[in-house]
Amino acid sequence: MTESTMRIPDINPLPLWNLAHAYCEARALHVANDLDIFSHLDEEKTSGQIAKLLGLEERPVRMLLDACVALNLLEKSGGRYKNTPVSSEFLVKHKPFYSGNFVSLEASSYLSWARLPEAVRRNRPVARTMKDEAKMKFFTHAMHSTSVFSATMLSQVVDLSGYKKLLDVGGGSGVNSITFAEKYPNLQATVFDQGPVVKIAAEYISGSPAASRLSTRAGNYLDILPRGHDAALLSNILHGEGTEDNRALLKRVYNALDAPGIVIIADVLTNEERTGPLFPVLFALNMLLDTENGDTYTVSEAQEFLEGAGFCEINTISFDPAPLSIVTAHKKARGTY
Ligand SMILES: C[S@@+](CC[C@H](N)C(=O)[O-])C[C@H]1O[C@@H](n2cnc3c(N)ncnc32)[C@H](O)[C@@H]1O
Repeated sequence: MTESTMRIPDINPLPLWNLAHAYCEARALHVANDLDIFSHLDEEKTSGQIAKLLGLEERPVRMLLDACVALNLLEKSGGRYKNTPVSSEFLVKHKPFYSGNFVSLEASSYLSWARLPEAVRRNRPVARTMKDEAKMKFFTHAMHSTSVFSATMLSQVVDLSGYKKLLDVGGGSGVNSITFAEKYPNLQATVFDQGPVVKIAAEYISGSPAASRLSTRAGNYLDILPRGHDAALLSNILHGEGTEDNRALLKRVYNALDAPGIVIIADVLTNEERTGPLFPVLFALNMLLDTENGDTYTVSEAQEFLEGAGFCEINTISFDPAPLSIVTAHKKARGTY
């Protein structure tokens, strides 16, 4: 044996090995969520009881439950399993902050991520999350189940008390409009999105006490935006488009907005070197898989889109620990520059 083969490296390989099989952690969560295991475990049960409820054999169920314990998604005591606080809050169906639809979306994205080598080699998308009406429906409910959380935070940090009418550009399920309208009794909002999506938004709106102040409008934000609004929100929109389309979109928002007016960007923004936070940096690869020109942008790039469109008084707020950053900017009334 030579001296070099005998040498023990002074760097521990364990973090690297853990990273190499990190997908196992995600898959355990995906499968447990898709089997809806957590909805049964606000009250403790044995693996045999869960297996019976699901009509499955006990052995794989016990393995999956133990994996969830190791992932801090379940607690185990005396052979009985129970939700941890995070699973109880976010993975039990019909609870207000249920995120299981989002976990299911990530589970289906896993199939696209298997084709990452192809996307990297060809610089072409390999998946189409919004390809048809069924996919739009699945995606919109999934987006709702994560945005219901960020919408609450957004409405706490952005003050719309002085504004009359919000245009929710690519508003999806309408969750942000609903949350803002429920907070501000004088605010009206329009959820602007593709035809099949606004049908779903109308369903969510009908369950809100602010429904009479909320409306939907079908259209293409790359084409024309409705007028008559003094606030505009772009939540999770920039990352789906390329730089030039974002510049043009912000200009379109500026032109459509009444003055004085406010625009709010809420998105997965990265630091200036694009080295973090981890989620937005990895999310750029998701956009490579799913869109022609999408990407994640730095805070300065978002500011530059806004400045280029004519907005001023740009202010950046970051959510911590949630992944969304917020940038607000204003359209001044003529004569107030
Ligand atoms: C990532 S989702 C964000 C939904 C919502 N704003 C949220 O934060 O939960 C992007 C939304 O933009 C919509 N969208 C994408 N391209 C569009 C276009 N050209 N015109 C209108 N809406 C579009 C999609 O249908 C989808 O609902």
